[in-house]
Amino acid sequence: MLIALLPGDGIGPEVIAEAVRVLAAAGARDLVFETAEVGGAAYKASGHPLPQATLDVARRADAILFGAVGDPDCDRLERHLRPEQAILGLRKELGLFANLRPAKLFPELADASALRPEIARAIDLVIIRELTGDVYFGQPRGLRKTDKGLREGFDTMRYDESEIARIAKVGFETAMARSGRLCSVDKANVLETSQLWRDVVMEVSADYPEVELSHMYVDNAAMQLVRAPGQFDVIVTGNLFGDILSDQASMCVGSIGMLPSASLDSSAKGLYEPIHGSAPDIAGQGKANPLATILSAAMMLRYSLGQADVADRIEAAVSRALETGHRTADLGGNASTTAMCDAVIAALG
Ligand code: NAD
Ligand code: IPM
Ligand code: MN
Repeated sequence: MLIALLPGDGIGPEVIAEAVRVLAAAGARDLVFETAEVGGAAYKASGHPLPQATLDVARRADAILFGAVGDPDCDRLERHLRPEQAILGLRKELGLFANLRPAKLFPELADASALRPEIARAIDLVIIRELTGDVYFGQPRGLRKTDKGLREGFDTMRYDESEIARIAKVGFETAMARSGRLCSVDKANVLETSQLWRDVVMEVSADYPEVELSHMYVDNAAMQLVRAPGQFDVIVTGNLFGDILSDQASMCVGSIGMLPSASLDSSAKGLYEPIHGSAPDIAGQGKANPLATILSAAMMLRYSLGQADVADRIEAAVSRALETGHRTADLGGNASTTAMCDAVIAALG
């Protein structure tokens, strides 16, 4: 199995190194790693955030383990040269339209949640975020001058029905494998894109009579996520709303440093990454929480590599490491990135 390792920028290389250590210690089988540059690091080395060589490795690989991209030095570059284009380009080029972002409270972290422990304890949900459409990719977009000579920026929110139907199916299938409840989040009271979204999700629901479907406006969903997050099981939503709601959900379970993700196409191929970014404010200081990336590696074993047994062992070890009190600063502790990972490895037993 070829794993493309794309560490990227900021804390990306720090957390990827720890995830690789855990994969080895947990006894993951038959993995060959190939590392490639991506993001600001790739731009600085070769003038492009997603060099052809990196895209080639990603295409050849059975799975991709991705750190993070983003570099303040690059924020004023032309858009197509910015580090973020690397992850957007990989998602689009590889057709990774389904982004699974599970948020489950490790009971030991009830007091790290931004919510009261009795509310946080109920959280066990997954956000299914559409990843290759929406206002992220809609055309036209740009910056221009209006007739009055004012600067104007514009983007296009758009989905066609096939894009909505295929992510809705992932939502229904996921709900079938869990509690049988699916909440579709949109802004159909204002946006045409969302009206179509809602109509198509309802049409697809005809094939899943066992699933209890509900709809919620995104502003209400943001509120409900902190009021009573236990009501959610599977949430399906568009690219932009899913981006925002998943950062919010991460803090409900303790930290942005806790949430892993899988970005899947319609086969077993996937890209696995923490939901957080390159965290330039703490990069190079040994402070980053590596657990989101370690849990992403576990998702990779489960979804792309057929090694659910090893994935289970890693997830149990994360839980035990937290039980024994190890915490990075984002969780209110003082363990370094490496010490946190050492605790996970020790807990593998
Ligand atoms: P961020 O997720 O990088 O950081 C937000 C805050 O959370 C920061 O205070 C950071 O220190 C903290 N944080 C994030 N991950 C952490 C971890 N593992 N452990 C402890 N603390 C952690 O978001 P941002 O600051 O808005 O963006 C920084 C850069 O990252 C930007 O260039 C942005 O575009 C990029 N970004 C990339 C990705 C990705 O590669 N998929 C995701 C989000 C943001
Ligand atoms: C994420 C990030 C990306 C997104 C950025 C860096 C393009 O925020 O993976 O959540 O918006 O999808
Ligand atoms: Mn994000």
